[in-house]
Amino acid sequence: MTAADIDVEIAPITSGQRILLETSADSALLSGAFGAGKSFIGCSKGLLLSMLYPGNRGLITRKTFASLRHTTLHTLFTQIIPPSMIRGHNKNEHLIVLYTPNPDRHSEIIYEGINNPTRIGSMNLGWVFADEGIEFEEADWTMLEGRLRWSEVPFHQIFSATNPGAPSHFLHRMFYDTANLPRRGQAATCAESNALENWKNPESFRRRLMRFKGKFYDRFVLGKWVGFEGLIYSEFGPSTHIDRQPFEIPQHWPRFMAIDFGYVHPACVQWWAEDPESGQRRMYREIYHTRLTTQDLAAMTLKHAVHDPLPKWIATDHQQDARATMQAVWRNPPADLTADVRIFARELAKVPFLLAEKDVSEGIKEVTRLIGSKVAVNDIEQDGMPLLVFHANALCHPPDQHLSEADPPLPCQTVDEFGGYMWEKDVLGNFTDKPDKKRGHDDGMDTLRYYVYTGEVMKRRPKRPRTVLMNIG
Ligand SMILES: Nc1ncnc2c1ncn2[C@@H]1O[C@H](COP(=O)(O)OP(=O)(O)OP(=O)(O)O)[C@@H](O)[C@H]1O
Ligand SMILES: [Mg+2]
Repeated sequence: MTAADIDVEIAPITSGQRILLETSADSALLSGAFGAGKSFIGCSKGLLLSMLYPGNRGLITRKTFASLRHTTLHTLFTQIIPPSMIRGHNKNEHLIVLYTPNPDRHSEIIYEGINNPTRIGSMNLGWVFADEGIEFEEADWTMLEGRLRWSEVPFHQIFSATNPGAPSHFLHRMFYDTANLPRRGQAATCAESNALENWKNPESFRRRLMRFKGKFYDRFVLGKWVGFEGLIYSEFGPSTHIDRQPFEIPQHWPRFMAIDFGYVHPACVQWWAEDPESGQRRMYREIYHTRLTTQDLAAMTLKHAVHDPLPKWIATDHQQDARATMQAVWRNPPADLTADVRIFARELAKVPFLLAEKDVSEGIKEVTRLIGSKVAVNDIEQDGMPLLVFHANALCHPPDQHLSEADPPLPCQTVDEFGGYMWEKDVLGNFTDKPDKKRGHDDGMDTLRYYVYTGEVMKRRPKRPRTVLMNIG
C-alpha cells in the first residue's frame, strides 16, 4: 500500500459530530442520544489521528471488553476502517496496525475494556476514545488521562462519546460546570447531538424513539443531562438492561409467566426465565396488545409458548372473569389449533394459576432492588451483568398499531414504559410514594411487578403461598 492509496473521507452529518471531529482541545465530550452517531464519529476521529500522525498509538475503550466488542468495535470494523488499510490485526493482543501516508511508519489502535486496568495502566498513548463515558468512574478517566504520553506524536487528546446521565455525573461536572475547567487546567470541548438529527437512522428507529416518554425522551432522544427525580425505576438504563444480542434460553432454566388483563389498555403477558446458577432473570417474550378478547389472548399465548418448558407458575391480576376464561380456553382449546398446541394447552391449564401479589409499594421496592442489582458469582458482582434483563426482541407480534400509530406514539412494549413511570405529586408538588396512575401506560410495569413480587413471596413462604387454584368444570 502506498500513501496515494490512503484516502480517508470522514463526513460529519451533525453539528455535534463536526465539533468532536475538529476540536484540538485536550479533552472533548460528545453527549447525545441513542443512535446520534457518537460511536461512529469517535471511531472516525481515532482513524483520522492515526493518519494525521503516522506512528500514533491510540486506545478505543468502554467499561467492559464484552460491551466494546458488541458495539463500538462492530462499527469500527464494518463502517470505519477499510480492510485495505489494515496491515495486521492481532486479536489476542487486541491490536490493529494500520498503514499510514508515511510508508515507513505505521499507526496502532488498541481496543480494550477499562476493566482490564493492568493492561491499560502500562500503556503510553497518543489518543483515547472512551465510548459510553457514562459508564466510567472519575478514577478511570484520570487513569486514562495519565496514559496520554506517547512521545512519537506532538498531539495528545482524550475524547468521549456518551449517552447523557444525571447532572451529578463526573462528566457533567467536568465538561458543563465551567468552574471545574480552570481547576483542571485544560481546554475542554463539549458538544451535543440528538438522535433525530441523524438522518442515517431508519425511519422505523426514529418512530421507536418517539415512543420514549418523559425524562427518558429528554435524556435518550434529545440527549439532555436531566436528573431522574420522580422516576420510579430511575436505575433502569436502556443500554444496560435491554439485551440486543441473540440469546437462546437454556431448556433447563425455570420459566414463569405474569399476566395483566386489559382491552382498551393493553393486555400484557410476560414470559420470564431464571438462570439457576447466577439468578439472572430474563424476560424473553411478551404480548402487549389492546383490543384482544381474552379468548384470543389465551390462544395467542399458547401458540407462542408451545415449545417452551411449562412455567412453574403463572401470576395474574385479579379479574376473575378473565382468569376463568383464560383457563377455560386452555382446558378446552379451540379445535382450529394444531394438535401439539392443544396438548400443550391442557398441560398449561394444570400449572398453578396464582393471584398476583398486588402490594404496590412492596412490589416496587422489590423491582427496584432487582433493577439495581448485578449478577454476583461467589458474592462478587459481575461488571456489566444486570440481574434483570429484557430481550430487545421480546415482543412476539408486530407492535399494536393502535399504540404505535397513536399521535404521539404510545408505549408498544414493557420497556417503553420505564421513562414515564413516575411517582404521583401531592398538592404541594412533592412526590408521594404512590405511582401516578393518571399518566397511564403502566400495564407492563404492573405485570413486571406481579412477576417479581409474587416470585419473592413464593420464595419467602414456600409452604403457604397465597394461591387460588381455579376450579372449573
Ligand atoms: N457521519 C456519518 N456518516 C455516515 N453514517 C453515519 C454517520 N454518523 C452516523 N452514521 C450512521 O448512524 C448509525 C448510528 O450511529 P452510531 O452507532 O455511531 O450511534 P451512537 O450514537 O453511538 O448510538 P448508541 O447510542 O446506540 O451507541 C451508524 O451505524 C452509522 O451507520
Ligand atoms: Mg454507540
